[in-house]
Amino acid sequence: MAGVGWVQLDIRDEDAVLSVLRAFRPQVVLHTAYSKADLEGVVVRGTAHVARACADLGARLIHLSTDQVFDGREAPYAEPARPNPLTSYGRAKLEAERVVGGMLSQAVVVRSSLIWGLDPPDPTSWMVLELADGRRQGGLFEDEYRSFVFVEDLARALWELVRLDYRGILHLGGAEVLSRLEFGRLIAPIYGRDPARLPALRLADFPEPRPQNCALDSSRARGLLKTRLRGVREVLASRV
Ligand SMILES: NC(=O)c1ccc[n+]([C@@H]2O[C@H](COP(=O)([O-])OP(=O)(O)OC[C@H]3O[C@@H](n4cnc5c(N)ncnc54)[C@H](OP(=O)(O)O)[C@@H]3O)[C@@H](O)[C@H]2O)c1
Repeated sequence: MAGVGWVQLDIRDEDAVLSVLRAFRPQVVLHTAYSKADLEGVVVRGTAHVARACADLGARLIHLSTDQVFDGREAPYAEPARPNPLTSYGRAKLEAERVVGGMLSQAVVVRSSLIWGLDPPDPTSWMVLELADGRRQGGLFEDEYRSFVFVEDLARALWELVRLDYRGILHLGGAEVLSRLEFGRLIAPIYGRDPARLPALRLADFPEPRPQNCALDSSRARGLLKTRLRGVREVLASRV
């Protein structure tokens, strides 16, 4: 694509982050990097490196965070709601949010919900297919709820946000709140799988605490953006 360049960068290397940003001199940095395997190194320290470089260079930072900063007991969550993460991932993402907020007045913290896509399928959809085919152990939670957001809607919303002078927290969740099992039952037939074959799990079956209902109240985004963050059924109906 014309005007697009690629540079490999490990955000755990602070000098490398600064020198790449110095070379590009961006007005806006959209930071999505994350690693489940290195929450402290990539999510917390890596984000600090990106935020510090943005502060040094006067770039506006849009940082992607998650609904998992909430404990799932008081949904739906609007932007002023008090975070209280239950998982190590949620805790690291909250720390990263605070690092960003502490270094930059001109940042946006976007809290997204579970991101799904059709082409290619997202990791949760792959899990649905493997479970339906009996190629995977486990099941899908019937009592864990998220505002599943379609990847193409999220990308459009972020791109719109790049061009807007918005600062602060913004919730970008899809319009329909579903459990993972409900999501799986909608997705399985798209790939020719039988939804009745999907095994159900309950949060009580899981050894670690997980937030039960992290539905996001995205009404601020609805007032701000032209992009609509559609529910799963609406996206699927538009593809028929
Ligand atoms: N997926 C969701 O449902 C969801 C929901 C809410 C929020 N989010 C947030 O959205 C963002 C993207 O999530 P995702 O699911 O798209 O993640 P992903 O598919 O795992 O992608 C993460 C990206 O980060 C890169 N990365 C990992 N370690 C890095 C490092 N040390 N330096 C530079 N880049 C590094 C990876 O590069 P390589 O591929 O080269 O390893 C990959 O491109 C994350 O901030 C996540 O917390 C995701």
